[in-house]
Amino acid sequence: MFKRWDELTHRSRKWYEFRQHYIMGPFKKIAALTPWYDQNAYAEFLQRRDETFREWLPGSSVLELGCGPGYLSAIFSATYGTKTYVGVDYSLGMVRDARSQYFFDFVNADAFYLPFPDKSFDVVFSAYLFHHLPPKKRSLALQEQARVARRALIIEETFGFEPGFWRWPYWAYYTLADGSFYRYTLKEWPEIFRSINIRLKKLFFTQERTILHRLICMVAEPIEGGRDPVG
Ligand SMILES: C[S@@+](CC[C@H](N)C(=O)[O-])C[C@H]1O[C@@H](n2cnc3c(N)ncnc32)[C@H](O)[C@@H]1O
Repeated sequence: MFKRWDELTHRSRKWYEFRQHYIMGPFKKIAALTPWYDQNAYAEFLQRRDETFREWLPGSSVLELGCGPGYLSAIFSATYGTKTYVGVDYSLGMVRDARSQYFFDFVNADAFYLPFPDKSFDVVFSAYLFHHLPPKKRSLALQEQARVARRALIIEETFGFEPGFWRWPYWAYYTLADGSFYRYTLKEWPEIFRSINIRLKKLFFTQERTILHRLICMVAEPIEGGRDPVG
């Protein structure tokens, strides 16, 4: 049932924005009132993300996976000087809405099976895609990203709580409000990369205890010689 909610709210830009404003918005306002939320930690994260984009994006060909309504296409080009941009989303409605709004390439495809040859893009980026992918298939998606990347993978995501009390209210929040899957913890993220032999170059995150904006950003190297057929 909650998975269907996830699918419904990713069917078009209109549904996506409805969910952001009217469902997640109120949860976020409450979470921002908790004593652990630190606006400075969030601002610092955004600054480090900006530095990361400035390091990797200028002059690069960029593929964005799970691009949704395509918000980042114009920002990547105008602010970070990307050479080319292609957005991929498996929601036909999102791709249709992105195409109607921005003059970039948007392709309807699945992050697990990308219709591009090995090393087609300098940078392969995704933001908030992985918590919508079934955990068992996430390594496959990471390997697929690494296959089509020439220089780097950049992944922006949310992270979950370690086992303990807070894991449960957080689980209830993302299941009910978002309909999405399990979020890897700060310990699990690097383990996943290690398990498929992708080397992490950089990792930073907001704060371990915060409820709002539990954000992590990772930069990884592509796989030399393409994907391991066994993995
Ligand atoms: C939370 S939205 C993020 C959208 C955008 N990146 C942003 O930050 O606003 C996740 C997006 O991933 C897409 N998505 C989910 N599973 C996918 C898959 N297997 N392949 C490609 N896109 C997928 C959804 O359709 C949705 O647009």
